[in-house]
Amino acid sequence: MTPAAGAREVLRGVRVAPSILSADFGRLREQVAEVLQAGARLIHVDVMDGHFVPPITVGPLIVGALADTVHDAGAMIEVHLMIERPERHVGDFVKAGADSITFHVEATPHVAYAAGLIRDSGACVGLAINPGTPVGALAEVATTIDVALCMTVNPGWGGQAFIEHSLEKLPRVRAIVGHEVAVEVDGGIDPQTAPPSRAAGANLFVAGSAIFAADDPAEAYRAIARSIDAE
Ligand code: DX5
Ligand code: ZN
Repeated sequence: MTPAAGAREVLRGVRVAPSILSADFGRLREQVAEVLQAGARLIHVDVMDGHFVPPITVGPLIVGALADTVHDAGAMIEVHLMIERPERHVGDFVKAGADSITFHVEATPHVAYAAGLIRDSGACVGLAINPGTPVGALAEVATTIDVALCMTVNPGWGGQAFIEHSLEKLPRVRAIVGHEVAVEVDGGIDPQTAPPSRAAGANLFVAGSAIFAADDPAEAYRAIARSIDAE
């Protein structure tokens, strides 16, 4: 596994994180290689369990299938768990090659415990809040996380429209977590919505359909990266 120190370095930058949710799974490794080649250093894997959100997507097997390709390119895998009781699954994802694991405050009564488990496993810790969740949900654990993920759509599906209210919420997220913690946006991110999100305090930008539904995912990645002067 990539050491957490190197992973934290990636998380500190201004980065576009391609989400494989909208990729062609028949050509998954090839599509991931294309965005790595275009400069991506953070590959976002969306895990859904059919309970926390209605769809069911992928698990540790897919993380394991991508791990070497991603790590050999000097990049990292961030797993976004949209599952209930995420603390039960941390070990399997870390074993499969996850460098950072993000879970939702709404998905467990044991937020501090889950964050501690991820930290002890050697991975970076991300905590996500849904659009309707107040930013105060991040406050008590802000010093123990690496990433605060502010959902800019309701989780569960790619291709939804960016929720404009997020631009009012992001400065409050940044104020609560400070500058040592990455602030990530996820949902409806493209070259139009990324720049105002950056101005509002985000430094990590997850994009699924804007990259993988495009004819040329590498060029689509670069277009978002250019819009925010990403590393
Ligand atoms: C949605 C997922 C996102 C999804 C974003 O619940 O967490 O990562 O891939 O898709 P787009 O970029 O298409 O809104
Ligand atoms: Zn996601």
